[in-house]
Amino acid sequence: EKGGYKHFMAKEIAEQPAVLGDALHHYLGEEGTEITLPGGGIDFSGVTRITMVACGTAYLACLTAKYWIERLARLPVDVDVASEFRYREPPIPEGTLAIFVSQSGETADTLAALRYCTGRADRIVSVVNVPESSIARESDLALPILAGAEIGVASTKAFTCQLAVLALVALDAARQRGRLAPADLARHLASLQAMPARFNAALALHEPIGRLARRLAEATDVLFLGRGAMYPLALEGALKLKEISYIHAEGYASGELKHGPIALVEKTVPVIVMAPHDRLFDKTVSNMQEVMARGGPVLLITDARGAAEAGSGVWETLIMPEASDLFAPMLYALPVQLLAYHTAVAKGTDVDQPRNLAKSVTVE
Ligand code: M6R
Repeated sequence: EKGGYKHFMAKEIAEQPAVLGDALHHYLGEEGTEITLPGGGIDFSGVTRITMVACGTAYLACLTAKYWIERLARLPVDVDVASEFRYREPPIPEGTLAIFVSQSGETADTLAALRYCTGRADRIVSVVNVPESSIARESDLALPILAGAEIGVASTKAFTCQLAVLALVALDAARQRGRLAPADLARHLASLQAMPARFNAALALHEPIGRLARRLAEATDVLFLGRGAMYPLALEGALKLKEISYIHAEGYASGELKHGPIALVEKTVPVIVMAPHDRLFDKTVSNMQEVMARGGPVLLITDARGAAEAGSGVWETLIMPEASDLFAPMLYALPVQLLAYHTAVAKGTDVDQPRNLAKSVTVE
C-alpha cells in the first residue's frame, strides 16, 4: 500500500504533482479559466474581514493565505491558532467570513473554534480533506482539497492542496472585489496550472537533499528564514523537521534575525534560507550575509537568478524551478518536506509515526 515507497511520507510527497493537478482541474474545469467553487461559492460582497483558524501545518497554510488574500483582494485577514482563538473568544464583527482549515476535519480545537463562530460570523467556510468530517458538516460551505488519504503523521500533500484551494479563494475574492483585471487573473491561473510540472521538476532535489541531510542530521539546532509569503514556510520547515527528525528547529521572518535569533548563529547551527528571486530577494540576501559573517553554514534555496546573484560563501545552494512571486511558497514546500524526510531517514527515526504524535488530534 506504500506503492513501492519506503514510507507513506515519501509516497505522499511524490503524489503532489498528481493530486495538485487534480485539485486545480476540479476547481477550474476543462478550460481552466474560471474558478468554480461548490455550493454557489463565496459571495464576498458583504465581507469586510476574514478570520482564519487552524492548528499546526493547516495554521501555516492559513498564514500563507493571509499574504495572498491581503495582497490580491485587499481584505484584512486575521489568522489564529485554534486553541488560542477558542478561549480568547475574540469579537466577531459583522461582515466577518470565518475560514477553518483542517486535513482531518476532526481537530478538537478547530472544531470548537468553528462552533464559537457559528451564529457570530456571517458565513463559515471550511477547507478540508475529509468531506464527511465534523468540521465539513458544521460549516456553511466545505471546500474539499482532494489530496486523497494522507497516512503519514507529517502533513505534506494536504498542505500543498490546502494552499491551492486557498489561492483560488484569494483570486476569487480579488476578482469579485474588482481588484483583478481579467488578464491578471488569467496570468495567476496559468502560474497555478504550471505548478504540477514544477513540482515534478522540484522532486529531482531528492538526490542532493539526501546528501545534505546527512550533515543536517548531525545538528542539534536548525534555523529556517524567509520573508513575505516565504515566512510561513520557514515556520513549516521548522515544524516538519522537529516533528519527524526530533531536531530542534525554529522558523523566523528574516527581518527578525537581528532582534534575537542571530545570537544562536555559529558553525554548528545550519541556517536554511528560502529566497526566490522576488522583490524581497535583496533584503533576504543581506540577512543571509549577516549569518555567514558569523560563521553560520547557510543552505540557500532559490531559483537560477537568485543563485547567480547571491554571491559566494554559502554552504550549499538548491536551485528551484522559477515560480510566480506570489505562489512560490507552494513550490518551496517540496524541498522543505524533502529536507525533513531525508534528515529523519538519516537519523533512523520513525518517519510515518513520530513519537508522541497522532495524525488527528481529537482531544484538546
Ligand atoms: O487534521 P488537521 O489539519 O486539523 O491537523 C492539524 C495539525 O494537527 C497537523 O497539521 C499537524 O501539525 C501535522 N502533523 C503537521 O505535519
